[in-house]
Amino acid sequence: MSHELRTPLNAIMGFSQIIAEETLGPIGTDKYIEYSRDINGSAQHLLAIINDILDLARIEAGKTELIEDPLDPQMLIPACIRVVSERAKVAGVAVEFAAENADFVFVGDERKMKQIIINLLSNAVKFTPAGGRIDVRWQIIEGRCCELTICDTGIGIGPEDLTRVLQPFAQAESGLNRRYEGTGLGLPLTRGLVELHGGSFRLVSELGRGTQAIIEFPLSRVRASGAQPSAGAPAPSRWPVHQAIEALEQTIRTGFLSGEDHATR
Ligand SMILES: Nc1ncnc2c1ncn2[C@@H]1O[C@H](COP(=O)(O)OP(=O)(O)OP(=O)(O)O)[C@@H](O)[C@H]1O
Ligand SMILES: [Mg+2]
Repeated sequence: MSHELRTPLNAIMGFSQIIAEETLGPIGTDKYIEYSRDINGSAQHLLAIINDILDLARIEAGKTELIEDPLDPQMLIPACIRVVSERAKVAGVAVEFAAENADFVFVGDERKMKQIIINLLSNAVKFTPAGGRIDVRWQIIEGRCCELTICDTGIGIGPEDLTRVLQPFAQAESGLNRRYEGTGLGLPLTRGLVELHGGSFRLVSELGRGTQAIIEFPLSRVRASGAQPSAGAPAPSRWPVHQAIEALEQTIRTGFLSGEDHATR
């Protein structure tokens, strides 16, 4: 399934980038360059949605495994904040992290932990009007849990929507006048990833006052600082041309461009 969906998208992204950058020669019409950039952007957006759907399906089927490493919250959280910092700056929202509380090592899957934190930070930035603030805390609550909270001073979620927004594709504000982009997959995915780490996830919110996303991890995931943490390298954000060409070759081999009926394969 994942291969069937991703392969044609690889070709679309790769070739639209080659056209937009005029790698093989000039196009001649500026509008065509603009269109090829739009094709590339739309394909990237679609790939992100497909990846979320596949991740969620894999979690629900019990097929996701954790790759566990000792992680340093004082490196992990700032790395995630950097991902949303430009968006936060444009939105006029401050993001603060109380690093002094997070002096421990957390054993977890680095990529999935980043996915959790970035999903929640992205929501907090998206749903907080200019002048607001986001506070991130990760602390040990002695004898109980290791608690990660992301609080914002944003638009909040009404009580009737608090449980609903944890379902796939559910969004709190409906109707044609909805101002916020999104698919409604971030929270269900976040909850699934938290539960894979043995944790629990909940939202506390009040309309017009803000939202707290609260995650409780078991204390068994915590080690004293001094263990060997991993910093992790950021994922590449561009789509290299050689990957697109490989993707095209594969696309032709698997028959996507030849009109073969892949539903029967
Ligand atoms: N911090 C928040 N403040 C206010 N509303 C929120 C917040 N986080 C989530 N919501 C509400 O919950 C809904 C579901 O959130 P979720 O992250 O699952 O989807 P999304 O952000 O709409 O899209 P996606 O994350 O897939 O891009 C949002 O559309 C919004 O209505
Ligand atoms: Mg979201």
